[in-house]
Amino acid sequence: MTFSDQTVSVVVGGQTGIGRAVAQALQQRPGRVVVASRRDGLDIADPAAVERFFADLGPVDHVVVTAGSQAPGGKLVDVGLDAAKAAFDVKFWGSLAVAQSAARHLRPGGSLTLTSGFLARRTVPGSFVKTAMNAGLEAVAKILARELAPLRVNVVSPGLTETEAYASMEPSARSAMLDRAASSLPVGRFGQPADLAQGYLLAIDNPFMTGAVIDIDGGALIQ
Ligand SMILES: NC(=O)c1ccc[n+]([C@@H]2O[C@H](COP(=O)([O-])OP(=O)(O)OC[C@H]3O[C@@H](n4cnc5c(N)ncnc54)[C@H](OP(=O)(O)O)[C@@H]3O)[C@@H](O)[C@H]2O)c1
Repeated sequence: MTFSDQTVSVVVGGQTGIGRAVAQALQQRPGRVVVASRRDGLDIADPAAVERFFADLGPVDHVVVTAGSQAPGGKLVDVGLDAAKAAFDVKFWGSLAVAQSAARHLRPGGSLTLTSGFLARRTVPGSFVKTAMNAGLEAVAKILARELAPLRVNVVSPGLTETEAYASMEPSARSAMLDRAASSLPVGRFGQPADLAQGYLLAIDNPFMTGAVIDIDGGALIQ
């Protein structure tokens, strides 16, 4: 779909990291880009707030969700299920709340692009929350691609990408994690938000793409 001055794109989670890179790329095009997250007053864990947000916005053309990067790590026997459920409330149920409300407001020719993560399809002890949330989103997105057709629904699955998601880590642990990824990934480096933004633009622009999971992970899944 061609962008015009009337095109409205929404990036939920677009204040930082991957979402900000998507918003910046879309801002180079004609039309309006709306960025929303908790600091803008939208908490996607609250479905009523999500519905109000889209009702106030009116018709939209492209909706991207990158919100919800935090999830407890640890073995199932060690992680409190309340913490696991809280992460699901944001990323899994929040993404579906956005999908549900956006579906009522997306114009013909529109697209919805969700975000999963490489752990969806890697078996790594200590990561069951991320694995479950992301695998669930990939599965539901394929169903949505059929239920909402001819609207298009896709998922971008990032690998380790340097963003604010890791800002609370102790700096030396953070750089050790990034260095480990750089030395172990086939591409020899970790990801940058702009690498990921290209996947969302592909999902938005390609009229023949729906139900797809776009892996941009430096080769994490072929290690
Ligand atoms: N970075 C990676 O290595 C990596 C790897 C695999 C998958 N991913 C996935 O990629 C996506 C983007 O990650 P990122 O690294 O760009 O993370 P990020 O920089 O932490 O961005 C996430 C954004 O989500 C917003 N957010 C959090 N909770 C929210 C809520 N309840 N309601 C609305 N907005 C909320 C935050 O803004 P507010 O604080 O203002 O709400 C924040 O701007 C996430 O789904 C993450 O799981 C990232």
